[in-house]
Amino acid sequence: MDYEILGVGYASHRLPDPRIAQRLHAALAGTGAVLNVGAGTGSYEPAGRCVVALEPSWRMLQQRGAGAAPVVQGAAEELPFADGRFAVAMAVLTIHHWRDWRRGLAEMQRVAARQVLLTWDPAHAGFWLVDEYFPELRVYDRRIFPSIDVLCSELGGAEVHEVPIPHDCRDGFLGAYWRRPAAYLDPEVRRSISSFARIPDSRAGLLRLQQDLDNGAWHRRHGPLLACEALDLGYRLVVRR
Ligand SMILES: C[S@@+](CC[C@H](N)C(=O)[O-])C[C@H]1O[C@@H](n2cnc3c(N)ncnc32)[C@H](O)[C@@H]1O
Repeated sequence: MDYEILGVGYASHRLPDPRIAQRLHAALAGTGAVLNVGAGTGSYEPAGRCVVALEPSWRMLQQRGAGAAPVVQGAAEELPFADGRFAVAMAVLTIHHWRDWRRGLAEMQRVAARQVLLTWDPAHAGFWLVDEYFPELRVYDRRIFPSIDVLCSELGGAEVHEVPIPHDCRDGFLGAYWRRPAAYLDPEVRRSISSFARIPDSRAGLLRLQQDLDNGAWHRRHGPLLACEALDLGYRLVVRR
């Protein structure tokens, strides 16, 4: 996926969510340097640690804040670091974009003693947006996200933790607006969600969503969701200690 195009405006809609950050930081806890692979604009980089970021896209590099960690331009598949240079390597919602995720994972294992990944489980049942409006997304996402079992076996064993998505999640990835359906009608919101860039024409799905919101059909089907604080949408923290 081309983040030179997709990354426009990323920093405005993909802010780190504090509850997800808390989980990630608990998994990263310890001493020693942290490598953030596919770091983007710097979300979830832990404060108070020595962090080095790695990111291939200029567009994303330009959006890193003044206080963000020092960054090296490069790709996960060829990490320009010595063996064992880091205590832990993190990769947040990025491995599905890599040309060769197995190679990237092997590189993370070469340069760091531990690995922490946030990814999505393609075996998860999905949610209303995909099921009812954009079923083609299921096909694309199942193709690019590695299965959690395979990921764990490539890592030589790992812990897997559910990451329920809060109803007001600040990080605008695909599942973030599960309780705010009208948000998906906003082109700016969709532009920061890479899955939408894979759909050749999203107009029919968007029109149906708009109609269902206008005529109350969405609320009749999904009203109970509005009482939920957080939902498991298949996001998983994979931790190799
Ligand atoms: C959805 S963004 C996630 C960025 C950041 N980790 C975050 O949580 O906001 C995916 C990132 O993966 C990067 N990426 C794509 N291919 C990559 C590769 N081969 N190696 C490392 N990063 C890559 C993209 O440039 C983009 O910044």
